[in-house]
Amino acid sequence: MSVRVAHTITEVRALVAEARSTGLSIGLVPTMGALHAGHGRLIERARAENAFVVVTIFVNPIQFNEASDYTAYPRALDDDVAFCEARGAHVVFAPSVQEMYPRPAGAFVQVEGVSEPMEGAFRPGHFRGVATVVAKLLNIVQADRAYFGEKDAQQLAVIRRMVDDLNFPVTIVEVETVREPDGLAMSSRNRRLSSAERRDALALHEALEHARSLVAAGELSPASIKARASAIFANYPAVRPEYLEIVDPAGMQPVEQITAPVRIAGAVRVGAVRLIDNVLARPPLQLDTVTSTGAFIEKPERMEEK
Ligand code: PAJ
Repeated sequence: MSVRVAHTITEVRALVAEARSTGLSIGLVPTMGALHAGHGRLIERARAENAFVVVTIFVNPIQFNEASDYTAYPRALDDDVAFCEARGAHVVFAPSVQEMYPRPAGAFVQVEGVSEPMEGAFRPGHFRGVATVVAKLLNIVQADRAYFGEKDAQQLAVIRRMVDDLNFPVTIVEVETVREPDGLAMSSRNRRLSSAERRDALALHEALEHARSLVAAGELSPASIKARASAIFANYPAVRPEYLEIVDPAGMQPVEQITAPVRIAGAVRVGAVRLIDNVLARPPLQLDTVTSTGAFIEKPERMEEK
């Protein structure tokens, strides 16, 4: 069956209501389009777990803090619709700005704490725009489950907090980051990189992987890890790092000492393009119990993510 494209809220609501009336479970995949294999993984997961899947494609103006980034954001609706159809989505909801914001937005969702460091500090207003549009999409589609990528780990934490604090009746599902063969996280913005910039873009992945390996080897001081991992950027003069931060995975606040799994996140600018990525890093098993022979025995439980 071919995918249905809805441009209005009334249309998408009617299509979802029809599916719901026959007892189908509904999965929602919010995107800004220019779809790639990362989005593809979200759609496939939604298909596996729901009978009816809605993909939304909307470049949300209120989450862009730079007008040039909004204007330059890649748009490819025809390709995106074919992409969704090939992955078995049932509906593409692609509203206009006028449809989503018929008048300037007057009500916003502001998630405190989790949205403040890192992306929140470098992109004022960004998460307010994200939380607001995701709240609107959740209200419009009323899905059972909504799918988000680990690639944007802070965004995911902001959305989880919003859904939790405001009692949205939806389950948020996290999907792991899809990478290019060399490790670069897939991103719609990668399309804007020249071939030289594409090579330099790998610096962020390299720095994050280095930081992760230091944690895995037992280095537990964020300051030392950040200094050593950031040194990698010196090999890439065209790369301008914005931050490299080590935070607790749920609250997204910087940690002073690593005692449990942490999220290591970074942002860089390569030419005119801004890229973000993150990894989960686990400290080694705690080796703090010494037997009478002097040999270490492992603590039975592994330190797990909170
Ligand atoms: P967008 O950047 O299009 O991403 C849509 C979803 O795809 C997000 O949940 C994002 O985390 C996920 N995603 C992007 N690249 C990925 C990758 N390489 N691997 C796995 N998942 C990936 O994020 C947004 O749009 C917007 O902020 C949105 C939530 C739609 C609100 O406007």
